[in-house]
Amino acid sequence: MIHWKVVDDYEALSAAAAAILLDWIERNPSTTLLLPTGSTPEGMYAHVVSACSARYRCFSDVTTFNLDEYVGVPPDHPGSYHHYMRTRLFSHVDLDPGRSHLPDGTATEVRRREPELDFESALRAECASYERAIEATGGIDVAFLGMGRNGHIGFNEPGSPFESRTRIVTLHPSTRMANAPFFPEGTVPERAITAGIGTILDSRRIILMASGAAKAPAVKRLAEEAPSRDFPAAALRLHGDVTVIVDRAATAALTVTPASSR
Ligand code: GLP
Repeated sequence: MIHWKVVDDYEALSAAAAAILLDWIERNPSTTLLLPTGSTPEGMYAHVVSACSARYRCFSDVTTFNLDEYVGVPPDHPGSYHHYMRTRLFSHVDLDPGRSHLPDGTATEVRRREPELDFESALRAECASYERAIEATGGIDVAFLGMGRNGHIGFNEPGSPFESRTRIVTLHPSTRMANAPFFPEGTVPERAITAGIGTILDSRRIILMASGAAKAPAVKRLAEEAPSRDFPAAALRLHGDVTVIVDRAATAALTVTPASSR
């Protein structure tokens, strides 16, 4: 079941998503969130940071997990999602570093603990331990998502099983091309670790953001297509509590503009 929230533009979308996040953590201070990267959530993070700097103890009891990270990219690389999260959110709010989790695409900690593992086995162990860490918190309360033009959520590309869990995936050439500007040295990663579609669907509530004309065809597929592996975001239609926040430009291809229901 998808609730649609149609807003005028990117600024309104960012404010609406931030309001949901801030309201949730205020009412549920020890909550667990699943967080996205990409250009879409940048505005949401900016709103959250400016609201939190005006308040005391916004994130002190919050636990966060991120959807994904590139394989082989160290956390201090400017194209890494570790770096993205540090610069957009973590270094500006009172989130306990011990409670913010991203998959480690270098599996450094696993390799330190189990030096006998080869790199591939260490990556697989990293994926399994990420799932266990999510479970240990009691599960994700609210997942925030962006969406790729081909409907990918996290890095779950078309063809991903709806029951998939955190795992190593190969990035679609179009996804690599979209992310190439973040790797100016020319070595765009070929693989990533991503929370699975099943991992995402286990979240109690899901908020997906889509902005701009480039996302209009994907928004149309999300609204109108029966769920299938060809279009990963359509898996959200199987979930009981999903809010999709879109701006007008992203609704351009829809046959019928959905009425905002939240
Ligand atoms: C990347 C991320 C996704 C994100 C997608 C869309 O591939 N792994 O989580 O949703 O990009 O990005 P953007 O918001 O920049 O369009």
